[in-house]
Amino acid sequence: MKIGIIGYGSMGKMFLWTFYETGVAAKEDLFVSNRTPERLQEAESIAHIGTNRDVAKAADIVFLSIRPGDIKMVLEEIKDDLKSDALVVSLNGSVSFALLEQVTKRKFAKVIPSVTAEIRCAQTLVCYNDLVQEADREALRPLLATMGDVVELPEQEMGMGSELASCMPGFIASIFDVICTEAKKHTTIPREQIVNIVLRTMCGTGELMLQKNMSFDDVVGRVATKGGITAVGSEVIYREFAGTAEELFVKTLEKRRLTAEAATKIFEE
Ligand SMILES: NC(=O)c1ccc[n+]([C@@H]2O[C@H](COP(=O)([O-])OP(=O)(O)OC[C@H]3O[C@@H](n4cnc5c(N)ncnc54)[C@H](OP(=O)(O)O)[C@@H]3O)[C@@H](O)[C@H]2O)c1
Repeated sequence: MKIGIIGYGSMGKMFLWTFYETGVAAKEDLFVSNRTPERLQEAESIAHIGTNRDVAKAADIVFLSIRPGDIKMVLEEIKDDLKSDALVVSLNGSVSFALLEQVTKRKFAKVIPSVTAEIRCAQTLVCYNDLVQEADREALRPLLATMGDVVELPEQEMGMGSELASCMPGFIASIFDVICTEAKKHTTIPREQIVNIVLRTMCGTGELMLQKNMSFDDVVGRVATKGGITAVGSEVIYREFAGTAEELFVKTLEKRRLTAEAATKIFEE
């Protein structure tokens, strides 16, 4: 199976190198293009370099790892070169299948990656349009599995799914950044050491919950004895943080709606 990647930016590069380094694809199976071809020099040893149309002609699965504003133009450019049963995979959550199908009626998948794919620890989200068959899913799944777990969702849930999987590393980093900054105000422990302790504890807590099938309540119950120190801290978090989390999702989902609206406008131009 031949794999094409159009757009060698942050995501395209991660996909290409992950496919190659995990051995799921060899150089003869990998094709890549980019608007600025000079950027592709570093990929010459692991993939065939070409134009968007070369990639479309060669590949059975074509990843569009380009920004939403470029998707319509690139699809128009390659639609007549794509193999008749090619699976076209958009990495963008804001452009709906309906919009993609307006340009060309094809098998489409949408894949939402996460930065944690870099350490093969991602929750990669995927949804498919009606033309996609089980054989297509089976072809795509092992590629995505090189980056971690693959989670299939209905198209209408990809927005919230993206908040939970793709945006969440940013949210988690922001939350624990605030915690470390506040902790530093009360201690002589160097910030670097605070961050390391908190990060290791965060990873350990997640692993503990997953391995022992524990709920959040279970963990709180194990650590926060009634009237104890952890209980005092936990009470503050449950009382104060719910409002922050509520605002976070209201704002991000609204931003997502506006982004989808802007993408729709580009497709309708
Ligand atoms: N970054 C993330 O964490 C993340 C997470 C989830 C989803 N996504 C989605 O993934 C997609 C790609 O994001 P990204 O972060 O990889 O963007 P990026 O770093 O800006 O990369 C986009 C790439 O597309 C290339 N490009 C633009 N127009 C092109 C054209 N006409 N033909 C060929 N290549 C073209 C650009 O080339 P140049 O070298 O000329 O600029 C650039 O290398 C976006 O739709 C984004 O929403 C990203």
